[in-house]
Amino acid sequence: MKEPKQLSVSAIENGTVIDHIPARNLFKVIKILGLDRIDNQITFGTNLDSKKLVQKAIIKISGVFFEDGDINRIALVAPDAKLNIIRGYEVVEKRVVTVPNRITGIARCMNPKCITNFEPVTTKFNVVSKKNVALKCHYCEKITDQEHLQFI
Ligand code: CTP
Ligand code: ZN
Repeated sequence: MKEPKQLSVSAIENGTVIDHIPARNLFKVIKILGLDRIDNQITFGTNLDSKKLVQKAIIKISGVFFEDGDINRIALVAPDAKLNIIRGYEVVEKRVVTVPNRITGIARCMNPKCITNFEPVTTKFNVVSKKNVALKCHYCEKITDQEHLQFI
């Protein structure tokens, strides 16, 4: 018999559930949100079946409620992420993420000659297109398009 792929991740009392993360980007989301550096209780499940994504991941963070500006940082790696705000075991709010106008860190500049690729400089981009993501480098002004997008 085929093993069920669905993992059960316990309900939380208060905090944030981030659902519909592409499984391959789970650890990028953890890094972008700095979840590897906080003491709160965090549970996650990955390679869960999803109708939309081939394989999805879910993260449940107890006791943390994100500001829009912080949570939108994950939009490049998890554009379809759904946030569920949980209070007293109830889902009190659902939110989606939107690609911010500026991106600091997270992405690499595709220009091999860019200073960010050979000096310890944090990358900075203006988002010139959100749908098919295009990032204009603050330092060299070259555009990194979706196809060449790589994460740090
Ligand atoms: N959840 C949780 N703890 C709670 C309540 C909900 O971890 N106390 C999680 C659920 O497991 C689910 C997500 O929050 O992954 C959203 O909950 P809910 O809206 O009840 O589920 P769905 O109706 O399946 O939501 P959607 O279809 O929007 O994903
Ligand atoms: Zn550059």
